[in-house]
Order: sequence, then structure tokens, then C-alpha cells
Amino acid sequence: MTIKQIADPGHEFILPAARILMETFVELSPDSWPDMKSAESTVRECLEPGRVVLAAYDGQSLAGWTGARPQYGTTGWELHPIVVDIPYQGKGVGASLLRRLESEVKLLGGVTLFLGADDETGRTSLSGKNLYDNLWKEIDGIKNLAGHPYEFYIKNGYIIVGVIPDANGIGKPDILMAKRLL
Ligand SMILES: CC(C)(COP(=O)(O)OP(=O)(O)OC[C@H]1O[C@@H](n2cnc3c(N)ncnc32)[C@H](O)[C@@H]1OP(=O)(O)O)[C@@H](O)C(=O)NCCC(=O)NCCS
Repeated sequence: MTIKQIADPGHEFILPAARILMETFVELSPDSWPDMKSAESTVRECLEPGRVVLAAYDGQSLAGWTGARPQYGTTGWELHPIVVDIPYQGKGVGASLLRRLESEVKLLGGVTLFLGADDETGRTSLSGKNLYDNLWKEIDGIKNLAGHPYEFYIKNGYIIVGVIPDANGIGKPDILMAKRLL
């Protein structure tokens, strides 16, 4: 597996990257990228100047990709998105992409990498509840009910720094996570 930085907005990366984005989010967040057009537009946004995009290749095949953009000067960066094509999932590609993204962001002055991991489909114990009642206790006792990716980030050194209750509709929170880049 080779990880390459993509900077050219005309790169042949765009269509395979859009396909992976659309296909991997179908179940997780059905409305995010319902078609190739919306997915392609997100890939192009990620390639705008000042942002970082990294791609993992297995030979000529794109296995996954990730991106980040500065949101607080050059210190706080948002990871958006990270996706690994279905046949390549669970083989360490995501963790490798994340490690490399952290290094690249750090080189650009980043000290915090953060992200939002939506739970729109009842995959964690934070879904389907009024989180305003008992927010921090709920976060403390979070359970992964069906392969929600927050656990992927925990395994890679991120912690939950907050939740936006009902961000995606009643009972559908966004889980905010971050890591200090040392
Ligand atoms: C989440 C994703 C990027 C992880 O990439 P990956 O290559 O499959 O993950 P890795 O093989 O590098 O896994 C690293 C560790 O995280 C764990 N992990 C990965 N995805 C997980 C999930 N959804 N739930 C729980 N644990 C997960 C792995 O089991 C592994 O644990 P280990 O170190 O104890 O063996 C990938 O599965 C994906 O694209 N999923 C669909 C899109 C998505 O959820 N993107 C993130 C949205 S916020």
C-alpha cells in the first residue's frame, strides 16, 4: 500500500474517490452523498488550495483516502472525510491514512485534529435519546452498538470532546472527537 498526497484538482483520483465516498456512506449516513455528483463535488472541495488530501493505493487501485482543512488559523484542523473502500476495510488502511494525515497536518502547524462522527442510524448508545438530560454521563458510558466509527478513532488516540445533540434530527447526534498532535 502506498500513500500519496494529491494536490492536482484535475487528477484521475477524483472519480474513484467519489465512488468510494458514496458507497461507504450509504448505510452510515444515507443522505450525505446520495449520488456521484454530490460525492464528486465534495472531493473537489477537499482539493481546494490550503487543504490536505491523501490517497492510499494498492498498485493502481485507490483503496481509500482522507482529507483535512484548517479551521482555526493553522492550529486546529478538521478531518473530513476518511474512507476506505469496502474490500480494503479492516486491514489497517484507515489507521495508516490517519497517521500520515496527522504528520502532514503537524508539518503545516496543526496542533489539534478534530472531527465530527455522526450517528444517524442508531449505531451508538447516544442515539435515540434526549442528550440534554444527562450529556456527560451518556458520553462516559457510550457503547458501540453496530460498528460506529468513533471506536476507530479511539483506537487511534482520539477522545470524545463533546456531542451535538440532535445535529442530524431528533435523537441523531454528531459525536465530536479530537487528538493533540504531539
Ligand atoms: C472507519 C474506516 C475509515 C476505518 O478504516 P479501516 O481501514 O477499515 O480501519 P483499520 O483496519 O485501520 O482499523 C484500525 C482499528 O480500528 C478498528 N475499527 C475500524 N473501523 C471500526 C468500526 N467501524 N467500529 C469499530 N472499530 C473499528 C479496527 O477493528 C482496528 O482495531 P484493532 O487495531 O484493535 O485491530 C473505514 O472502515 C471506513 O471507511 N468506513 C466507512 C466510512 C466511515 O465510517 N468513515 C468515518 C466516518 S466519521
